[in-house]
Amino acid sequence: MAKPLVSSRADALAGTARVPGDKSISHRALMFGALAVGESVVEGLLEGDDVLCTAQAMRALGAEVERRADGSWRLFGRGVGGLAEPDGLLDMGNSGTGARLLMGLVATHPFTTFFTGDASLRSRPMRRITEPLGRMGAGFVTRSGGRLPAAVIGTAEPQPITYELPVASAQVKSAILLAGLNTPGETTVIEREATRDHTELMLRNFGATVTVDPLPEGGRRVTLTGYPELVGRHLRVPADPSSAAFPVVAALVVPGSDLRLPAVGINPLRTGLYQTLGEMGADLRFENSRVEAGEPVADLVVRFSELKGVDVPPERAPSMIDEYPILAVAAAFARGTTRMRGLAELRVKESDRLAAMAHGLAACGVRVEENKDSLTVHGTGAPPAGGATIAVNLDHRIGMSFLVLGMATAQPVAIDDGHTIDTSFPGFAALMNGLGANIGAGKE
Ligand code: S3P
Repeated sequence: MAKPLVSSRADALAGTARVPGDKSISHRALMFGALAVGESVVEGLLEGDDVLCTAQAMRALGAEVERRADGSWRLFGRGVGGLAEPDGLLDMGNSGTGARLLMGLVATHPFTTFFTGDASLRSRPMRRITEPLGRMGAGFVTRSGGRLPAAVIGTAEPQPITYELPVASAQVKSAILLAGLNTPGETTVIEREATRDHTELMLRNFGATVTVDPLPEGGRRVTLTGYPELVGRHLRVPADPSSAAFPVVAALVVPGSDLRLPAVGINPLRTGLYQTLGEMGADLRFENSRVEAGEPVADLVVRFSELKGVDVPPERAPSMIDEYPILAVAAAFARGTTRMRGLAELRVKESDRLAAMAHGLAACGVRVEENKDSLTVHGTGAPPAGGATIAVNLDHRIGMSFLVLGMATAQPVAIDDGHTIDTSFPGFAALMNGLGANIGAGKE
């Protein structure tokens, strides 16, 4: 059953809130813990539906995975190459990261694994991984268009490859590197634009040899040495900068707001939104910068700000790929025009986010232009009208973006289904309401 939600104008948002753990890092922590020899303990794991699907999948592949009473997760791994054939389908829910990384991992195990997901995931492109993984020796049976459900026929004789990514995608890079774990020799991925490097950082932390060489013309060459012995680790997952983005933009657009968000990941390959908000005039500070489990973190302090429109260069897209929906909301409150370019990948996320933002903002009275791979938002400096109900189409970030919009528009903004928010930010409405927002049940 759908769960409609409505967000009405809020008075100042104030207080301190810990946003949930990083989704990208949480998936990887479960996968690498399941591959390591011995015990791993993960604190601060995101307990969103996406990550819970990965936990279930790692169990189905033979690892011990349990949530302990103190909220930490304990894993007992199988060793690289030690995964076992699952006896049922792996249902990855809404998660592109879970599906693509695991399809890479099992591609070099000598058994067949069947993958499926929800209607959103079943519509997403998988050829971007089946093509390079096929070169490593794996076979695939997919639905038309290379979509899930799919069977991954793992190879017993994997070949290492050197592969240049045709699209800037950390999921594709990671799928190949994970396949390279149970492959002899060196597996190399060349990326012309650097994408999030959590796989590289965490694999090294677990004991693998991963070298990263910058390319003279930009980008990186990432090389993994096969058959590493991964050893169990104790990890603390930083708060997710992609989730923190929602309270941050909410504070920027609701007058009088002042928020503190502790221990947010500030990996430079994830912080494009924060750089852009700074250019727009946001009063946003990083305090107590430190490193936790190999990842940089800081406390974010943000206050209401009068924003101005900016040009966001296309080369910034990989470092803020999940943040364009909420940036478009910030842009709707800014004075002047914000141009976002290089957004073709937004069309193949959990939904077509370019179209979703263009249509939804227009329905709320914002002047927007949508092109093949760009979005232009014309802000007037005054709050938009609001007053629309937005179809989220199984896309958590679209849902949260429009609820944030409604916190400062003249009329409330509703979404048709809030369930999907649990994929990445369980407890979003309660957390925001605790800071002063007015999110309530909407009309069926
Ligand atoms: C992710 C990579 C990105 C991002 C996704 C998480 C990851 O996807 O959008 O939310 O954890 O590697 P792409 O690789 O498709 O850009």
